[in-house]
Amino acid sequence: MKILITGARGGIAFLTGITLASRGHFVYMTTHTNEEAHKLKEKVDALGLKIIIFKLDITNNEDRKMLNNLDIDVLINHAGIGIGGSILDVPMDEVRRNFEVNYFASYDIVRRVGNRMIKNNKEGKIIIMSSTAGIIPIPFLGSYCSTKAAISTMATSLKRELKTLKSKVKVVLIEPGAYKTGFNQVMIDNIDKNTGYDSVFYNDKIKIHNKLTKLFNLIEKRQLDSIVVKIIEACESGKPKFKYRAPLLQRIFTRIYLIFVK
Ligand SMILES: NC(=O)c1ccc[n+]([C@@H]2O[C@H](COP(=O)([O-])OP(=O)(O)OC[C@H]3O[C@@H](n4cnc5c(N)ncnc54)[C@H](OP(=O)(O)O)[C@@H]3O)[C@@H](O)[C@H]2O)c1
Repeated sequence: MKILITGARGGIAFLTGITLASRGHFVYMTTHTNEEAHKLKEKVDALGLKIIIFKLDITNNEDRKMLNNLDIDVLINHAGIGIGGSILDVPMDEVRRNFEVNYFASYDIVRRVGNRMIKNNKEGKIIIMSSTAGIIPIPFLGSYCSTKAAISTMATSLKRELKTLKSKVKVVLIEPGAYKTGFNQVMIDNIDKNTGYDSVFYNDKIKIHNKLTKLFNLIEKRQLDSIVVKIIEACESGKPKFKYRAPLLQRIFTRIYLIFVK
């Protein structure tokens, strides 16, 4: 299968990409910048894997246009950013930046790839990286959680639309819990920058930062295998599920939340 992954410099996407390549798939791993693409190529070459690597800044329209002519069976829409801070504080341009990456750019990629797959009568898959944070909103990470709720709703709508079309293209949502990749800590560290002197949370900002750091230190899974296994299953299965969640404990917690709280 020909598989393209966005935001594959490191973390979950890197491990997914090299695992898929070592299982015999033809993989395109794409990165935010050219510099990252070079570094990633060195890492992949050192592993002796054949992977096509190029820069795809998903917020860049010209970069996204390249996808119009690329023949792929599976899209893994993984690139994302997280902006921390209170709903009352995060500057609007930061909220827009968060939505630009996690929602609008990702939405446009899904449109381009989805149309091409359907017109070419492919048994394609569109795999979208959402988060349990889109189901269980976390205070002071509200901007990020909102982007993930939005992309999950978009994926659900698309899945239902494709059913009407009796299309062979499948939509899959990946909803990971917390994993230690550095992503969450960057988001938590934003809280400081986004809680200025005029914020009603200013006097509490260190407490908020420390509380979230403690929470994530407690729940973050250090090994990424449990989520990578789910993404591989979504790629390779003839009948993928619509939603995959991991790790197990956070999956159970999400289920309980959905039954008793939501
Ligand atoms: N780690 C978790 O606990 C967790 C939980 C649930 C969901 N997720 C989702 O998983 C993804 C993050 O994966 P990760 O945890 O493995 O962290 P990560 O390695 O930091 O992944 C995020 C990737 O997105 C890239 N990116 C950001 N802006 C981009 C752009 N405009 N164009 C292309 N790439 C861009 C980043 O590159 P730069 O760093 O160079 O910008 C980075 O490679 C996000 O979609 C996140 O919502 C993560």
